[in-house]
Amino acid sequence: MALPRYAFFKGRIVPYSEARVGVLTHGLNYGTGVFSGIRGYWNPDEKELFVFRPEDHYRRFLESAKMLGMTLPLDAPQLTAVLADLLRKEGFREDCYVRSLAFYADETVGVRLHDLTPEISIVSMPYGRYIDKEEGAHATISSWRRVDDNAIPARGKIVGSYVNSALAKTEAMRSGFDEAIVLNGDGHISEGSAANFLLVRNGVVLTPPITDNILEGITRRTVIDLLRDELGVTVVERSIDRSEIYVAEEALFVGTGVQIVAVTRVDHRPVGTGRIGPIATALRKLYFDVVRGRRPDYRRWCAPVYGPAAALEENEGAVRPAVARS
Ligand SMILES: Cc1ncc(COP(=O)(O)O)c(C=O)c1O
Repeated sequence: MALPRYAFFKGRIVPYSEARVGVLTHGLNYGTGVFSGIRGYWNPDEKELFVFRPEDHYRRFLESAKMLGMTLPLDAPQLTAVLADLLRKEGFREDCYVRSLAFYADETVGVRLHDLTPEISIVSMPYGRYIDKEEGAHATISSWRRVDDNAIPARGKIVGSYVNSALAKTEAMRSGFDEAIVLNGDGHISEGSAANFLLVRNGVVLTPPITDNILEGITRRTVIDLLRDELGVTVVERSIDRSEIYVAEEALFVGTGVQIVAVTRVDHRPVGTGRIGPIATALRKLYFDVVRGRRPDYRRWCAPVYGPAAALEENEGAVRPAVARS
C-alpha cells in the first residue's frame, strides 16, 4: 500500500514523514486510542471526490474517545473540515481511505486513562477492495469470541480491541477462508473481524442489535435505511443464532472497508444457493450509486471535497492546484 504524502498531525498538515511518535507513546504501548475509517469515492462524471458520511463517522469517533475519557479539541464538523483540507492537499482523483486516530500521546509508563494528553492524526491513501471476493466470500465461525462491553466496549472503535479482530481475521485467512464470523460471549453472532453482519431468512433481513457487542457501524445504519426505504425489505434487529446461517437464503458483511460483501459459503456449507442472492445484488448496486454521489436524494451523505468550481476548471482543461490549508 502506498504511503500518504501528508498527515494532519499536532494541529496542522505536515509531510507524512514528519508525523512520528516515540516508542514510549502511551497509545502504542497500551492500545489507548480510538480510530475511524472513512472512504472517499471518486465520481469521474462530476470530477468530484465524495467523502461518505464523514460527520457521522466523526461523531462515533468522538463517542469512542469519550469512552476512553478523552476530550478532543475538534468537533465533528471541524474534523470534517480538516479532512477536506487534507484530501485537497493530496489531490486524489481516485477512491481513497481516510484513517483518523486519537491516541494518548504521553511518553510515559503506567496503565491508566487519566492524566494523559490525546493527540489527533489523520492520513489518507488510495484504496480499492478490502476483501477480494466481494461477490462471493467464504467465511468461517471464529474460535475467538468478541470482546464484551464489560471488557472493552465493542461499540466504540478502540485501538486495543483490534487485537481481538486481528486474531479472528488471521485465524480465518490462514485456514483458507476470506473472513471470520465472530460470536459474542453468549454464543450469538456479533460481526465480522471488521464489518457488521446481516442475513436473510424468509425474505426478512436480520442483523444483531447494537447491544450484542458489535461496532455501531455507519454502513450498517446506511444499509438498514436503504433496505427499508428503497428495496422495501423488512429489517429486524435481533440476536442471531449461529445455526440460522445454515438455513438462511443470503448473508452479508457490511462496513466502510469491506463495503457490501455477499457471504456465499460458511464453513464449506453454501449459504442459500451458494451464489450471490437478489438482496445482496440489489443492495450492492444501490450502495455504490449512493456513495459515489449518483443518487441526488442521498447526496446529503456525500461530502464533496473539491466543489463545483474545480469540476468546471477540469472540464475547461485547466490544471487544478492542490488547495493548501489556510
Ligand atoms: C469491528 C468492526 N465492525 C464493523 C465495522 C463497520 O463499521 P463502519 O460501517 O462504520 O465502517 C468496522 C469498521 O470498519 C469494524 O472494525
